[in-house]
Amino acid sequence: MTAPVKLFSSVKIGSLELPNRIVMSPMTRIRAGEDCVPTESMARYYSQRAAAGLIITEGTHPSPMGRGYTYPPGLHNVAQAVGWRRVTDAVHEAGGRIFVQLMHAGRVSHSDLLPEHALPVAPSAIAIKGEIHTFTRKAPFEVPRALETDEIAAIVQDYRRAAELSVAAGFDGVELHAATGYLPNQFQVSGSNKRNDQYGGSVENRSRFTLEILAALCTVRGAGRVGVKIGPGFTVNDTFDDDPAETYTYLARQLNALGLAYLHVGYDSGYSRGTPPPFNPVDLIRPVYSGSLLAVGGFTRDSGEKALEAGRADAIVYGRPFISNPDLVERFASGVSLNAPDVRTFYGGDDHGYTDYPTIAREVHLK
Ligand SMILES: Cc1cc2nc3c(=O)[nH]c(=O)nc-3n(C[C@H](O)[C@H](O)[C@H](O)COP(=O)(O)O)c2cc1C
Repeated sequence: MTAPVKLFSSVKIGSLELPNRIVMSPMTRIRAGEDCVPTESMARYYSQRAAAGLIITEGTHPSPMGRGYTYPPGLHNVAQAVGWRRVTDAVHEAGGRIFVQLMHAGRVSHSDLLPEHALPVAPSAIAIKGEIHTFTRKAPFEVPRALETDEIAAIVQDYRRAAELSVAAGFDGVELHAATGYLPNQFQVSGSNKRNDQYGGSVENRSRFTLEILAALCTVRGAGRVGVKIGPGFTVNDTFDDDPAETYTYLARQLNALGLAYLHVGYDSGYSRGTPPPFNPVDLIRPVYSGSLLAVGGFTRDSGEKALEAGRADAIVYGRPFISNPDLVERFASGVSLNAPDVRTFYGGDDHGYTDYPTIAREVHLK
């Protein structure tokens, strides 16, 4: 294919003008410091990728109870906001734009990772089948504690507070992680939500938690600086629904009224565990959602360009290609081949496999 045109055209996404349509996907890398404070290495990693039209950070917990990994970054206290400020300053100095992805793990966690060894929380007391990495071991997922109805408003407040801290931390906006079986998604789907209050049962009720969080985020940041990620039909983390097409198209229709910056639709190309859905999530959602749509999952330069040409999405989100190609945008522009990612260094470790992938500039210099 000749040099892509659409990928390199600018686009207005909410309050932001993106210089290109190549977005960096949120990716957990488990390299934050003690107390989940972002590090200098993280600032380097993200700023190396600042040529992206938009960077979306790795999942970041809005409260200590939202933590789901050993060393993920958080955004629930001032030290973490200060750490993130170093990241956002570095990205902005390099000419980029950056949203923080707010991710409450809910039942995709373990008491080893939570304050005072509390049990993870969830809409219903149903454990995920399988195991989770804690600090010292791999342990079976525990049966989570079902949230009381009157506890839910406090969790929405945690997200609101994280949005407030995101302003101090210098983020251009926030993305709600409502995909892949994390807490909002646990409420959304019928398999993990057996509640009989106003947050369970009908699709209207199961969508309520996600919509309340988004309303809170919009109050703080303005809708033009709030996005949300969904992954219709994916079963990772035991995310089962009786009628996923109905569940997610209902949610997408409700989102129309909010005027968000974007809806980010996950189409996982077999990276994660679980069964792929019987439909293409991007094509399911596009006709029912009137705002900007970001598509993710297994895209190459050429397939991304084609999806834009066909009007299937407004921007393309790249995950793994950005891990191993800090200069992905430059490589797409020039047609230079990509470095392959090393899966062994995806989660945790030092700067190897994190900030040391070669750039074209470095390769040329070394020759
Ligand atoms: C190492 C790794 C960590 C990830 N962590 C997150 C995450 O924190 N939040 C999220 O929404 N998706 C996460 N994902 C999924 C990616 O954002 C993306 O949807 C997926 O990798 C498919 O895109 P790709 O085929 O371009 O890699 C992760 C993917 C990888 C490879």
